[in-house]
Amino acid sequence: MTLWQGRFGGEKPAPELLAFTVSLPFDRRLAIDDVTGSRAHAHGLEKAGVLTGEEASIVVTALDRIEEELIDGTFAFQPDDEDIHTAVERRVIELAGTAGAKLHTGRSRNDQVATDMRLYAKRALTDVAALVLGLQHVLLDRARAAGEAYLPGYTHLQRAQPVLLAHHLLAHAWALARDIDRLVDARRRLDVSPLGAGALAGSSLPLDPDAVAAELRFAARFENSLDAVADRDFVAEALFDLALIGVHLSRIGEEVALWASEEFGFLHLADAWATGSSMLPQKKNPDIAELARGKAGRLIGHLTGFLATLKGLPLSYNRDLQEDKEPLFDAVDQVKGALLALSGLLATAQFDIARMQAAADVAHLAATDLAEHLVSTGMPFREAHSIVGALVHDALERHVPLAELVEAHPALGAEALALLEPGVAATRRTTPGGAGPGPVAEQLRHFADRLAADERRLSRG
Ligand code: ARG
Repeated sequence: MTLWQGRFGGEKPAPELLAFTVSLPFDRRLAIDDVTGSRAHAHGLEKAGVLTGEEASIVVTALDRIEEELIDGTFAFQPDDEDIHTAVERRVIELAGTAGAKLHTGRSRNDQVATDMRLYAKRALTDVAALVLGLQHVLLDRARAAGEAYLPGYTHLQRAQPVLLAHHLLAHAWALARDIDRLVDARRRLDVSPLGAGALAGSSLPLDPDAVAAELRFAARFENSLDAVADRDFVAEALFDLALIGVHLSRIGEEVALWASEEFGFLHLADAWATGSSMLPQKKNPDIAELARGKAGRLIGHLTGFLATLKGLPLSYNRDLQEDKEPLFDAVDQVKGALLALSGLLATAQFDIARMQAAADVAHLAATDLAEHLVSTGMPFREAHSIVGALVHDALERHVPLAELVEAHPALGAEALALLEPGVAATRRTTPGGAGPGPVAEQLRHFADRLAADERRLSRG
Protein backbone atom coordinates (compact mmCIF):
# COMPACT_ATOMS: atom_id res chain seq x y z
CA MET A 1 0.00 0.00 0.00
CA THR A 2 1.28 3.43 -0.86
CA LEU A 3 1.01 6.20 1.72
CA TRP A 4 -1.39 8.14 -0.46
CA GLN A 5 -3.95 5.51 -1.52
CA GLY A 6 -6.92 7.27 0.15
CA ARG A 7 -7.18 9.95 -2.49
CA PHE A 8 -7.36 7.46 -5.35
CA GLY A 9 -10.58 5.51 -4.96
CA GLY A 10 -10.03 1.82 -5.46
CA GLU A 11 -7.66 2.03 -8.36
CA LYS A 12 -4.16 0.73 -7.83
CA PRO A 13 -1.17 2.64 -9.18
CA ALA A 14 -0.02 1.45 -12.60
CA PRO A 15 2.99 -0.85 -12.41
CA GLU A 16 4.78 1.40 -14.88
CA LEU A 17 4.21 4.38 -12.61
CA LEU A 18 5.72 2.57 -9.66
CA ALA A 19 8.58 1.19 -11.72
CA PHE A 20 9.44 4.70 -12.85
CA THR A 21 8.99 6.58 -9.59
CA VAL A 22 10.14 4.27 -6.81
CA SER A 23 13.32 5.28 -5.05
CA LEU A 24 13.75 2.41 -2.62
CA PRO A 25 16.51 0.73 -4.62
CA PHE A 26 18.76 3.69 -3.88
CA ASP A 27 17.24 5.59 -0.95
CA ARG A 28 17.41 2.57 1.33
CA ARG A 29 20.86 3.90 2.06
CA LEU A 30 19.06 6.54 4.15
CA ALA A 31 17.33 3.91 6.31
CA ILE A 32 19.12 4.59 9.58
CA ASP A 33 18.86 8.34 9.10
CA ASP A 34 15.15 7.94 8.46
CA VAL A 35 14.78 6.06 11.73
CA THR A 36 16.83 8.71 13.56
CA GLY A 37 14.69 11.52 12.16
CA SER A 38 11.52 9.59 12.97
CA ARG A 39 12.62 9.09 16.56
CA ALA A 40 13.17 12.83 16.98
CA HIS A 41 9.78 13.49 15.39
CA ALA A 42 8.09 11.00 17.76
CA HIS A 43 9.61 12.85 20.72
CA GLY A 44 8.36 16.10 19.19
CA LEU A 45 4.85 14.67 18.84
CA GLU A 46 4.92 13.64 22.48
CA LYS A 47 5.90 17.15 23.56
CA ALA A 48 3.14 18.53 21.34
CA GLY A 49 0.61 16.24 23.03
CA VAL A 50 -0.17 14.34 19.82
CA LEU A 51 1.28 11.14 21.25
CA THR A 52 0.82 10.18 24.90
CA GLY A 53 3.95 9.20 26.78
CA GLU A 54 2.98 5.58 26.40
CA GLU A 55 2.31 5.88 22.67
CA ALA A 56 5.59 7.67 22.14
CA SER A 57 7.45 4.94 23.94
CA ILE A 58 5.70 2.25 21.84
CA VAL A 59 6.68 4.11 18.65
CA VAL A 60 10.27 4.68 19.75
CA THR A 61 10.61 1.03 20.79
CA ALA A 62 9.36 0.05 17.32
CA LEU A 63 11.91 2.41 15.75
CA ASP A 64 14.69 0.90 17.87
CA ARG A 65 13.66 -2.55 16.73
CA ILE A 66 13.58 -1.39 13.10
CA GLU A 67 17.08 0.00 13.46
CA GLU A 68 18.25 -3.39 14.74
CA GLU A 69 16.53 -5.16 11.86
CA LEU A 70 18.18 -2.81 9.41
CA ILE A 71 21.59 -3.35 10.93
CA ASP A 72 21.40 -7.12 11.15
CA GLY A 73 19.82 -7.39 7.72
CA THR A 74 16.49 -8.89 8.81
CA PHE A 75 14.36 -5.88 7.86
CA ALA A 76 11.92 -7.21 5.26
CA PHE A 77 11.26 -4.69 2.51
CA GLN A 78 7.91 -5.22 0.78
CA PRO A 79 7.19 -4.94 -2.95
CA ASP A 80 4.88 -1.99 -2.25
CA ASP A 81 7.48 0.04 -0.38
CA GLU A 82 7.78 3.04 -2.64
CA ASP A 83 10.67 4.57 -0.79
CA ILE A 84 12.55 4.22 2.46
CA HIS A 85 10.10 6.50 4.29
CA THR A 86 7.18 4.27 3.31
CA ALA A 87 9.07 1.15 4.33
CA VAL A 88 10.01 2.50 7.76
CA GLU A 89 6.53 3.87 8.47
CA ARG A 90 4.85 0.67 7.32
CA ARG A 91 7.00 -1.31 9.70
CA VAL A 92 6.34 1.14 12.55
CA ILE A 93 2.63 0.59 12.04
CA GLU A 94 3.08 -3.18 11.93
CA LEU A 95 4.96 -3.06 15.22
CA ALA A 96 3.21 -0.20 17.01
CA GLY A 97 -0.35 -0.35 15.65
CA THR A 98 -2.49 2.74 16.23
CA ALA A 99 0.34 4.63 17.93
CA GLY A 100 2.48 3.93 14.88
CA ALA A 101 -0.22 5.30 12.61
CA LYS A 102 0.17 8.66 14.41
CA LEU A 103 3.87 9.01 13.58
CA HIS A 104 3.41 10.89 10.34
CA THR A 105 1.35 13.64 12.01
CA GLY A 106 2.67 17.08 11.14
CA ARG A 107 5.36 15.60 8.92
CA SER A 108 5.69 15.10 5.20
CA ARG A 109 8.10 13.03 3.22
CA ASN A 110 9.28 16.40 1.94
CA ASP A 111 10.77 17.58 5.22
CA GLN A 112 11.61 13.99 6.08
CA VAL A 113 13.71 13.30 3.00
CA ALA A 114 15.46 16.65 3.29
CA THR A 115 16.32 15.76 6.90
CA ASP A 116 17.60 12.33 5.95
CA MET A 117 19.73 13.74 3.16
CA ARG A 118 21.30 16.34 5.41
CA LEU A 119 22.08 13.77 8.08
CA TYR A 120 23.64 11.57 5.41
CA ALA A 121 25.58 14.40 3.79
CA LYS A 122 27.03 15.59 7.09
CA ARG A 123 28.39 12.14 7.79
CA ALA A 124 29.50 11.46 4.22
CA LEU A 125 31.47 14.69 3.93
CA THR A 126 33.14 13.93 7.24
CA ASP A 127 34.08 10.44 6.00
CA VAL A 128 35.45 11.82 2.74
CA ALA A 129 37.44 14.46 4.61
CA ALA A 130 38.95 11.75 6.82
CA LEU A 131 40.13 9.89 3.71
CA VAL A 132 41.53 13.11 2.23
CA LEU A 133 43.52 13.51 5.45
CA GLY A 134 44.72 9.94 4.97
CA LEU A 135 46.08 10.74 1.52
CA GLN A 136 47.68 13.92 2.84
CA HIS A 137 49.45 11.83 5.47
CA VAL A 138 50.84 9.56 2.79
CA LEU A 139 52.08 12.58 0.83
CA LEU A 140 53.61 14.08 3.96
CA ASP A 141 55.35 10.83 4.89
CA ARG A 142 56.73 10.42 1.39
CA ALA A 143 57.81 14.06 1.32
CA ARG A 144 59.65 13.68 4.61
CA ALA A 145 61.33 10.49 3.46
CA ALA A 146 62.38 12.10 0.17
CA GLY A 147 64.88 14.31 1.99
CA GLU A 148 66.72 16.47 -0.51
CA ALA A 149 66.02 14.30 -3.55
CA TYR A 150 65.11 16.42 -6.54
CA LEU A 151 63.61 16.15 -9.99
CA PRO A 152 62.85 18.53 -12.81
CA GLY A 153 59.98 20.88 -12.13
CA TYR A 154 57.87 21.36 -15.24
CA THR A 155 55.91 24.08 -16.91
CA HIS A 156 54.19 23.28 -20.20
CA LEU A 157 55.44 19.76 -19.49
CA GLN A 158 58.92 21.03 -20.39
CA ARG A 159 61.69 20.75 -17.85
CA ALA A 160 62.00 24.14 -16.18
CA GLN A 161 63.96 24.19 -12.92
CA PRO A 162 64.89 21.48 -10.43
CA VAL A 163 62.58 21.16 -7.43
CA LEU A 164 62.76 18.93 -4.40
CA LEU A 165 60.58 15.84 -4.67
CA ALA A 166 59.16 16.78 -1.27
CA HIS A 167 58.10 20.11 -2.72
CA HIS A 168 56.34 18.45 -5.62
CA LEU A 169 54.48 16.01 -3.38
CA LEU A 170 53.42 18.74 -0.99
CA ALA A 171 52.01 20.78 -3.87
CA HIS A 172 49.33 18.10 -4.22
CA ALA A 173 48.88 17.95 -0.47
CA TRP A 174 48.16 21.69 -0.23
CA ALA A 175 45.48 21.40 -2.93
CA LEU A 176 43.88 18.71 -0.81
CA ALA A 177 44.06 21.04 2.20
CA ARG A 178 41.77 23.43 0.35
CA ASP A 179 39.43 20.50 -0.27
CA ILE A 180 39.31 19.87 3.46
CA ASP A 181 38.45 23.54 3.96
CA ARG A 182 35.62 23.28 1.49
CA LEU A 183 34.24 20.07 3.00
CA VAL A 184 34.26 21.53 6.49
CA ASP A 185 32.65 24.69 5.21
CA ALA A 186 29.96 22.82 3.25
CA ARG A 187 29.26 20.70 6.30
CA ARG A 188 28.78 23.81 8.41
CA ARG A 189 26.39 25.35 5.88
CA LEU A 190 24.25 22.24 5.51
CA ASP A 191 23.96 21.78 9.25
CA VAL A 192 20.36 23.04 9.33
CA SER A 193 17.33 20.92 10.21
CA PRO A 194 14.38 21.02 7.78
CA LEU A 195 12.21 18.87 10.07
CA GLY A 196 8.99 20.63 10.98
CA ALA A 197 8.58 22.32 7.62
CA GLY A 198 5.93 19.71 6.81
CA ALA A 199 4.98 19.42 3.16
CA LEU A 200 5.86 23.08 2.58
CA ALA A 201 4.25 25.40 5.11
CA GLY A 202 4.78 24.15 8.65
CA SER A 203 1.97 22.86 10.84
CA SER A 204 -1.09 23.85 12.86
CA LEU A 205 0.07 21.56 15.66
CA PRO A 206 2.35 22.88 18.43
CA LEU A 207 5.49 21.27 17.06
CA ASP A 208 8.90 22.63 18.00
CA PRO A 209 11.38 22.48 15.10
CA ASP A 210 14.12 23.89 17.35
CA ALA A 211 13.82 20.97 19.74
CA VAL A 212 13.98 18.33 16.99
CA ALA A 213 16.89 20.19 15.41
CA ALA A 214 18.73 20.04 18.73
CA GLU A 215 17.91 16.36 19.23
CA LEU A 216 19.24 15.59 15.76
CA ARG A 217 22.34 17.65 16.57
CA PHE A 218 21.79 20.13 13.81
CA ALA A 219 23.29 23.53 14.54
CA ALA A 220 20.02 25.30 13.69
CA ARG A 221 16.53 24.83 12.29
CA PHE A 222 15.23 26.16 8.97
CA GLU A 223 14.05 29.78 8.81
CA ASN A 224 11.62 29.29 5.93
CA SER A 225 9.54 26.16 5.41
CA LEU A 226 9.36 26.56 1.62
CA ASP A 227 13.11 26.86 1.40
CA ALA A 228 13.55 23.95 3.82
CA VAL A 229 11.83 21.45 1.52
CA ALA A 230 12.97 22.98 -1.80
CA ASP A 231 16.63 23.58 -1.04
CA ARG A 232 19.21 21.16 -2.38
CA ASP A 233 22.07 23.64 -2.52
CA PHE A 234 23.87 21.46 -0.05
CA VAL A 235 23.79 18.55 -2.50
CA ALA A 236 25.05 20.73 -5.35
CA GLU A 237 27.78 22.10 -3.12
CA ALA A 238 28.81 18.65 -1.96
CA LEU A 239 28.90 17.52 -5.60
CA PHE A 240 31.15 20.45 -6.45
CA ASP A 241 33.50 19.70 -3.57
CA LEU A 242 33.63 16.06 -4.58
CA ALA A 243 34.15 16.92 -8.25
CA LEU A 244 37.05 19.19 -7.36
CA ILE A 245 38.60 16.49 -5.20
CA GLY A 246 38.10 14.25 -8.22
CA VAL A 247 39.94 16.77 -10.37
CA HIS A 248 42.81 16.93 -7.88
CA LEU A 249 43.03 13.13 -7.78
CA SER A 250 42.89 13.10 -11.55
CA ARG A 251 45.90 15.38 -11.75
CA ILE A 252 47.80 13.15 -9.34
CA GLY A 253 46.68 10.15 -11.40
CA GLU A 254 47.92 11.75 -14.59
CA GLU A 255 51.35 12.33 -13.08
CA VAL A 256 51.54 8.81 -11.69
CA ALA A 257 50.74 7.44 -15.16
CA LEU A 258 53.40 9.67 -16.71
CA TRP A 259 56.01 8.97 -14.07
CA ALA A 260 55.39 5.21 -14.25
CA SER A 261 56.00 5.22 -18.00
CA GLU A 262 59.31 3.98 -19.33
CA GLU A 263 59.81 7.40 -20.89
CA PHE A 264 59.86 9.10 -17.49
CA GLY A 265 60.75 6.13 -15.30
CA PHE A 266 60.42 8.20 -12.11
CA LEU A 267 58.14 5.76 -10.33
CA HIS A 268 57.84 2.00 -9.93
CA LEU A 269 54.49 0.74 -8.70
CA ALA A 270 54.32 -1.97 -6.08
CA ASP A 271 52.98 -5.19 -7.57
CA ALA A 272 49.91 -5.20 -5.33
CA TRP A 273 48.93 -1.76 -6.58
CA ALA A 274 49.45 -2.31 -10.30
CA THR A 275 47.63 -4.37 -12.90
CA GLY A 276 48.70 -6.59 -15.78
CA SER A 277 47.60 -7.07 -19.35
CA SER A 278 45.57 -10.05 -20.51
CA MET A 279 47.60 -10.25 -23.72
CA LEU A 280 50.93 -8.51 -23.22
CA PRO A 281 52.93 -10.47 -20.68
CA GLN A 282 55.43 -7.70 -19.98
CA LYS A 283 52.89 -5.05 -18.98
CA LYS A 284 52.54 -3.46 -15.58
CA ASN A 285 49.82 -0.86 -15.72
CA PRO A 286 48.85 2.06 -13.49
CA ASP A 287 45.10 1.34 -13.61
CA ILE A 288 44.40 3.02 -10.27
CA ALA A 289 45.93 6.23 -11.54
CA GLU A 290 44.00 6.05 -14.79
CA LEU A 291 40.69 5.35 -13.08
CA ALA A 292 41.30 8.16 -10.60
CA ARG A 293 41.70 10.33 -13.69
CA GLY A 294 38.69 8.79 -15.43
CA LYS A 295 36.33 9.14 -12.47
CA ALA A 296 36.75 12.90 -12.52
CA GLY A 297 34.67 13.03 -15.71
CA ARG A 298 31.84 11.19 -14.04
CA LEU A 299 32.03 13.41 -10.95
CA ILE A 300 31.87 16.56 -13.04
CA GLY A 301 28.87 15.02 -14.81
CA HIS A 302 27.07 14.48 -11.51
CA LEU A 303 27.57 18.13 -10.61
CA THR A 304 26.47 19.60 -13.92
CA GLY A 305 23.60 17.14 -14.26
CA PHE A 306 22.21 17.98 -10.87
CA LEU A 307 22.56 21.74 -11.36
CA ALA A 308 20.50 21.30 -14.51
CA THR A 309 17.89 19.37 -12.51
CA LEU A 310 17.59 22.25 -10.05
CA LYS A 311 17.58 25.21 -12.38
CA GLY A 312 13.95 25.23 -13.50
CA LEU A 313 12.21 24.16 -10.32
CA PRO A 314 9.46 26.36 -8.92
CA LEU A 315 9.04 26.42 -5.15
CA SER A 316 8.76 24.31 -3.25
CA TYR A 317 9.21 20.53 -3.33
CA ASN A 318 9.06 18.84 -6.74
CA ARG A 319 9.65 15.19 -7.37
CA ASP A 320 12.63 16.13 -9.53
CA LEU A 321 14.47 16.54 -6.25
CA GLN A 322 14.55 12.79 -5.87
CA GLU A 323 17.29 12.99 -8.50
CA ASP A 324 19.64 14.31 -5.80
CA LYS A 325 20.36 10.89 -4.41
CA GLU A 326 22.07 8.74 -7.00
CA PRO A 327 24.62 11.39 -8.02
CA LEU A 328 25.49 12.23 -4.43
CA PHE A 329 25.75 8.61 -3.30
CA ASP A 330 27.79 7.68 -6.34
CA ALA A 331 30.07 10.71 -6.04
CA VAL A 332 30.76 9.89 -2.39
CA ASP A 333 31.46 6.23 -3.20
CA GLN A 334 33.71 6.99 -6.14
CA VAL A 335 35.74 9.64 -4.35
CA LYS A 336 36.20 7.42 -1.31
CA GLY A 337 37.33 4.54 -3.52
CA ALA A 338 39.75 6.73 -5.41
CA LEU A 339 41.20 8.23 -2.22
CA LEU A 340 41.81 4.81 -0.71
CA ALA A 341 43.32 3.33 -3.85
CA LEU A 342 45.57 6.29 -4.59
CA SER A 343 46.70 6.43 -0.98
CA GLY A 344 47.75 2.80 -1.18
CA LEU A 345 49.47 3.29 -4.51
CA LEU A 346 51.43 6.31 -3.32
CA ALA A 347 52.34 4.76 0.02
CA THR A 348 53.93 1.74 -1.68
CA ALA A 349 55.37 3.08 -4.93
CA GLN A 350 59.11 3.38 -5.25
CA PHE A 351 60.59 6.61 -6.52
CA ASP A 352 63.53 6.24 -8.87
CA ILE A 353 65.55 9.06 -7.41
CA ALA A 354 68.59 8.43 -9.61
CA ARG A 355 66.46 8.77 -12.70
CA MET A 356 64.70 11.89 -11.43
CA GLN A 357 67.95 13.57 -10.50
CA ALA A 358 69.61 12.64 -13.78
CA ALA A 359 66.68 14.25 -15.60
CA ALA A 360 67.17 17.40 -13.51
CA ASP A 361 70.94 17.49 -13.84
CA VAL A 362 70.97 18.66 -17.44
CA ALA A 363 72.89 21.90 -17.64
CA HIS A 364 70.21 24.05 -19.21
CA LEU A 365 67.94 23.61 -16.12
CA ALA A 366 70.45 25.92 -14.41
CA ALA A 367 69.98 28.63 -17.04
CA THR A 368 68.03 30.85 -14.66
CA ASP A 369 70.79 30.48 -12.08
CA LEU A 370 73.33 31.62 -14.67
CA ALA A 371 71.17 34.64 -15.49
CA GLU A 372 70.71 35.44 -11.80
CA HIS A 373 74.48 35.15 -11.34
CA LEU A 374 74.91 37.84 -14.01
CA VAL A 375 72.24 39.93 -12.28
CA SER A 376 74.26 39.74 -9.05
CA THR A 377 77.10 41.49 -10.91
CA GLY A 378 74.73 44.41 -11.66
CA MET A 379 73.60 43.37 -15.15
CA PRO A 380 69.92 44.05 -16.01
CA PHE A 381 67.97 40.81 -16.06
CA ARG A 382 66.81 41.31 -19.66
CA GLU A 383 70.41 41.40 -20.82
CA ALA A 384 71.37 38.42 -18.65
CA HIS A 385 68.41 36.45 -20.01
CA SER A 386 69.47 37.20 -23.54
CA ILE A 387 73.12 36.19 -22.97
CA VAL A 388 72.24 32.87 -21.34
CA GLY A 389 69.50 32.20 -23.89
CA ALA A 390 72.01 32.68 -26.67
CA LEU A 391 74.48 30.30 -24.96
CA VAL A 392 71.81 27.60 -24.65
CA HIS A 393 70.86 28.13 -28.27
CA ASP A 394 74.46 27.89 -29.32
CA ALA A 395 75.08 24.76 -27.25
CA LEU A 396 72.10 23.02 -28.81
CA GLU A 397 72.88 24.15 -32.36
CA ARG A 398 76.54 23.24 -32.29
CA HIS A 399 76.20 20.21 -30.02
CA VAL A 400 78.68 21.54 -27.48
CA PRO A 401 78.25 21.22 -23.73
CA LEU A 402 76.77 24.37 -22.18
CA ALA A 403 79.48 24.17 -19.51
CA GLU A 404 82.16 24.74 -22.10
CA LEU A 405 80.48 27.91 -23.36
CA VAL A 406 79.85 29.16 -19.84
CA GLU A 407 83.46 28.71 -18.88
CA ALA A 408 84.64 30.53 -22.00
CA HIS A 409 82.21 33.44 -21.61
CA PRO A 410 83.91 36.61 -20.26
CA ALA A 411 80.97 37.55 -18.01
CA LEU A 412 80.54 34.02 -16.64
CA GLY A 413 83.68 31.88 -16.40
CA ALA A 414 84.77 29.35 -13.79
CA GLU A 415 82.73 30.82 -10.93
CA ALA A 416 79.50 30.45 -12.88
CA LEU A 417 80.53 26.97 -13.92
CA ALA A 418 79.99 25.77 -10.36
CA LEU A 419 76.30 26.45 -10.84
CA LEU A 420 76.14 23.67 -13.40
CA GLU A 421 77.45 20.99 -11.03
CA PRO A 422 74.87 18.22 -10.49
CA GLY A 423 72.51 19.02 -7.65
CA VAL A 424 73.54 22.63 -7.24
CA ALA A 425 70.58 24.24 -8.99
CA ALA A 426 68.18 22.26 -6.78
CA THR A 427 69.58 23.98 -3.69
CA ARG A 428 69.33 27.52 -4.97
CA ARG A 429 65.64 28.33 -4.47
CA THR A 430 65.82 29.89 -1.03
CA THR A 431 62.81 32.20 -0.93
CA PRO A 432 59.84 31.37 1.32
CA GLY A 433 57.58 28.79 -0.29
CA GLY A 434 60.29 28.01 -2.84
CA ALA A 435 61.51 24.62 -4.04
CA GLY A 436 64.93 24.40 -2.33
CA PRO A 437 65.88 22.57 0.88
CA GLY A 438 65.59 25.55 3.26
CA PRO A 439 62.06 26.66 2.41
CA VAL A 440 60.90 23.07 1.93
CA ALA A 441 62.01 22.13 5.44
CA GLU A 442 59.95 25.02 6.75
CA GLN A 443 57.04 24.08 4.52
CA LEU A 444 57.10 20.53 5.86
CA ARG A 445 56.68 21.90 9.37
CA HIS A 446 53.84 24.19 8.30
CA PHE A 447 52.10 21.42 6.49
CA ALA A 448 52.36 19.01 9.43
CA ASP A 449 50.86 21.71 11.68
CA ARG A 450 48.08 22.35 9.23
CA LEU A 451 47.31 18.64 8.98
CA ALA A 452 47.13 18.29 12.74
CA ALA A 453 44.87 21.35 12.97
CA ASP A 454 42.59 19.95 10.26
CA GLU A 455 42.39 16.66 12.10
CA ARG A 456 41.25 18.47 15.23
CA ARG A 457 38.82 20.58 13.21
CA LEU A 458 37.27 17.50 11.66
CA SER A 459 36.88 15.59 14.88
CA ARG A 460 35.05 18.55 16.41
CA GLY A 461 32.30 17.72 13.91
N1 ARG B 1 11.52 9.75 -2.73
C1 ARG B 1 11.18 11.11 -2.55
C2 ARG B 1 12.42 12.00 -2.74
O1 ARG B 1 13.47 11.48 -2.72
C3 ARG B 1 10.62 11.33 -1.17
C4 ARG B 1 9.75 12.52 -1.06
C5 ARG B 1 8.47 12.27 -1.77
N2 ARG B 1 7.59 13.35 -1.62
C6 ARG B 1 6.50 13.46 -2.37
N3 ARG B 1 5.76 14.50 -2.16
N4 ARG B 1 6.18 12.56 -3.29
O2 ARG B 1 12.35 13.16 -2.93
